[in-house]
Amino acid sequence: MSILDILKSSHNQMPETYKHIPVLEMEERVRKIKEKFGSMLFIPGHHYQKDEVIQFANTTGDSLQLAQVSAKNTECEYIVFCGVHFMAETADILTSDKQKVILPDMRAGCSMADMADIDQTERCWQVFQQTFGDTVIPLTYVNSTAAIKAFVGKNGGATVTSSNAKKMLEWAFTQKERILFLPDQHLGRNTAFDLGVPLEQMAVWNPITDSFEYEGNTEDVKIILWKGHCSVHENFTVANVNQIRADEPEMNILVHPECSREVVALSDYAGSTKYIIDMIEQAQSGSKWAIGTEMNLVKRLIDNYPDKEIVSLNPYMCPCLTMNRIDLPHLLWTLEELDSGNVINQITVDDTITTQATLALERMLQKP
Ligand code: 13P
Ligand code: SF4
Repeated sequence: MSILDILKSSHNQMPETYKHIPVLEMEERVRKIKEKFGSMLFIPGHHYQKDEVIQFANTTGDSLQLAQVSAKNTECEYIVFCGVHFMAETADILTSDKQKVILPDMRAGCSMADMADIDQTERCWQVFQQTFGDTVIPLTYVNSTAAIKAFVGKNGGATVTSSNAKKMLEWAFTQKERILFLPDQHLGRNTAFDLGVPLEQMAVWNPITDSFEYEGNTEDVKIILWKGHCSVHENFTVANVNQIRADEPEMNILVHPECSREVVALSDYAGSTKYIIDMIEQAQSGSKWAIGTEMNLVKRLIDNYPDKEIVSLNPYMCPCLTMNRIDLPHLLWTLEELDSGNVINQITVDDTITTQATLALERMLQKP
């Protein structure tokens, strides 16, 4: 379901009163419910979540780690997912029917996932069959709706995350001559480039105009990049890199591959959320880092590693607005409703979509 569908549908709104409860009291109430529910309740938290929420997470991780945790999680009855809508959908797909997945705020969508809808995808697939015949395998970044994952699963493809994109593209090229990569053109382009695919062999599919943006010979196309992007990571620019290089030449520049090709090419290192965290953890005391990723994570790295000099690559960067929808009042509200016997904001993916999306997710999770 896209964020527009969610906003159009009637969903529970948090009562105003939750906004006025003192923080210490909210924390205490969350703690009590967690204790009461024990192992029946599980709270996964993505690294981009706010500290006020992440302090209550049973586990934290990037998209891949959280999907792996969901796949192994057969015990708990309630999963209160501190992340965004597509992550909660993935958790629902990978857990059993008995387990209920809850998103504390239904408005916590992802603008990138909303850039590919299933009708657009079905339409482009028809064009590809006519243009390329049966030579294309679809891959989708997990930052996509369950319907897109199902489309990919049904057509022999798989999901990828930023942690395993390289491995998944390598696998896909053993299956078919060409890849359709949804919905993040930058992750697709950066990963294919690392694997040696020249930029001239990468076409862009524009889902708004239903047309290719490509000037070469269609025979040469190796990867078709869906024209989507992350509205957070596209805010790191070449100008930001040039500024840091001019002001602080000894700073290491470390960015997420959702940044543009130009920014990644000018940076010293690029990798997934987990890669960024590991790099900073292993970096020498006193080393200097300008990081191009979501701001809640950058702030946490600054706080956790005071012996290293860490700044955001873009000094005017904000956190991801949709990740930030999950806050302490919403977490407390959903938990208290649960405690009163009401499961609110449950994320449910229908059975057919679940079956087909599982194919795509399992092709990824089964890779070592
Ligand atoms: P990863 O967790 O795969 O690095 O993805 C980043 C992201 O944008 C999540 O929304
Ligand atoms: Fe979506 Fe980007 Fe926010 Fe991740 S950081 S949830 S990709 S908008």
